[in-house]
Amino acid sequence: MEPEHCAEGRDEGAPSASFLMGNRLNLRGLRREDLEYVRSWWDNTEVTAHMETGAYPTTDAMLEEFYSTANQSRNSVIFVAEDRSTGKPIGLSGLYEIFWPGRRAEFRVLIGDPEIFDKGYGTEATLMTVEYGFMRLNMEVIHLGVNAANARAVRAYEKAGFVREGVRRKFVFARGVYCDAVMMSILRHEFPLTKVP
Ligand SMILES: CC(C)(COP(=O)(O)OP(=O)(O)OC[C@H]1O[C@@H](n2cnc3c(N)ncnc32)[C@H](O)[C@@H]1OP(=O)(O)O)[C@@H](O)C(=O)NCCC(=O)NCCS
Repeated sequence: MEPEHCAEGRDEGAPSASFLMGNRLNLRGLRREDLEYVRSWWDNTEVTAHMETGAYPTTDAMLEEFYSTANQSRNSVIFVAEDRSTGKPIGLSGLYEIFWPGRRAEFRVLIGDPEIFDKGYGTEATLMTVEYGFMRLNMEVIHLGVNAANARAVRAYEKAGFVREGVRRKFVFARGVYCDAVMMSILRHEFPLTKVP
């Protein structure tokens, strides 16, 4: 029989529709049918305005490689974020370059439609993925690098609890300009469960 404390908080009546369920988002594994969404997000110059993603047109080979990483690598966990109310995929969130001995991972997120920027989805996906990293994968450090010109992303990461560590000078080349990259991280003890939506 399961110890009582392991069963705490479980809602036996809840549907098991998605891997992680938040307020307005579900996070689940990448499926082959998601790849055309991914292509449209990576090829959208508004979405990738501050990123190095988008330097090349997305090819089938790039999508296959991404699918293979998502499905086979134990050093990355890639989620598709779905709008809970519609079930529509709206972006990606994940932990990459997981280094198990050091228990650290790199966080990346992308909301694929500029029409729904600034509505809290990015922050929610960040909180859910970071909680997953700490509570299920037992990470100690989750880190990221972001174009300093991407003020929206920096703000979303700060809202989710990431702190600025420093700057890598002229580290990102996006749209003809070398920009500084802000390095940010969050440590396990800085992420209490009460912050999860
Ligand atoms: C960056 C991204 C994940 C943020 O997600 P989002 O759902 O748009 O953002 P949120 O609504 O969760 O939070 C954005 C915050 O930034 C604020 N913001 C927006 N533009 C801003 C600006 N120019 N300067 C300062 N703050 C800004 C918003 O007001 C909001 O803060 P608030 O809630 O305190 O008002 C999303 O916009 C995205 O995927 N963009 C394209 C890809 C990308 O840049 N990914 C990150 C690569 S590191």
